[in-house]
Amino acid sequence: MIGHTALFPMFALVLAACAPLVVMSRPTPTPTPPRPTEPQTVIRLPEPRTRGPLSLEETLARRRSVRAYTPEPLTLAEIGQLLWAAQGITDPEGRRTAPSAGARYPLEVYVVLPEAVYHYRPHPHELRLHLPGDRRPALYEAALAQEAVLTAPAVIVITAVYRRTAERYGAQRTPRYVHMEVGHAAQNVLLQAVGLGLGSVPIGAFYDDRVREVLALPAEHEPLYLLPVGHPAAPR
Ligand SMILES: Cc1cc2nc3c(=O)[nH]c(=O)nc-3n(C[C@H](O)[C@H](O)[C@H](O)COP(=O)(O)O)c2cc1C
Repeated sequence: MIGHTALFPMFALVLAACAPLVVMSRPTPTPTPPRPTEPQTVIRLPEPRTRGPLSLEETLARRRSVRAYTPEPLTLAEIGQLLWAAQGITDPEGRRTAPSAGARYPLEVYVVLPEAVYHYRPHPHELRLHLPGDRRPALYEAALAQEAVLTAPAVIVITAVYRRTAERYGAQRTPRYVHMEVGHAAQNVLLQAVGLGLGSVPIGAFYDDRVREVLALPAEHEPLYLLPVGHPAAPR
C-alpha cells in the first residue's frame, strides 16, 4: 500500500516527464502571409486575434507615448490588428471595436507605410491602395517636423466624415460626438500597440490642409489624429 505522501513525488515526476510534451503540443501561431513590399491594389488582412499576452490592466499600466522607433517594419498581422482595434467589425450587424453615436461610424482610417498609403475597409477587413509611394517625409513636414512621423514604420491616420453624424444629430452635437469617437478609436490603437509589444503616440499638432494635400484625402475626410506606430527604440 502506497501512502499519500509517497504518491505525491511520483505524481510530480510523471508531470515533469510530460511537461516537454505539453509544451511541444501547444498550437503554433498561424503563419501570416508576408507583407508585400510593392503597392497592391487590395490587401486582405489576416484575421484579427482576440487573445493576447497582457491583461487589460497591464496594458493600461504600460501605455506611454513612444516617439522613437527601430527601423523594423510592421508585419501585415500587426497592421491588421491595429486597424481592427481602431474600427474593426465585431458583430454580424456591423458594429465595431469603438462605440459610435447612433452607429453612424463617421471615422475613416488610413495607414501610411513606406511603400504606399492604404485606406482601411473594416468590412471585409482589407486595405485598398490610396496612394503609391512613401508619404511619410511630406507628412512629417505637415506635422511640424515631428520625428515620430518620419521614423515610424507605419502611421495610422484617423479622419472623420462629419456629415454622417450631422445627418442624425445636427450641427450642434456633431463636433462633440465625432471628437469623442476619434478619442475612442485612437485609444484602442494605443492600447493595441502595447498589446503587440509596439509603441505609439497620438499626434494632434499638424496643419490640416497640408495633411489633406499630402495624403490626397477626399474632400469630406477631415484628418483628426496621426498615430505613428513602431517597435520602441528603447524597450521599456
Ligand atoms: C489631443 C492630444 C494631442 C496630442 N498631440 C501630440 C503631438 O502633436 N505630439 C506629441 O508628441 N504628443 C502629442 N500628444 C501626446 C501627449 O504629449 C502625451 O499624451 C502626454 O505628454 C502624456 O504622456 P503619455 O501619453 O506618455 O501618458 C497628444 C495627446 C493628446 C491627448
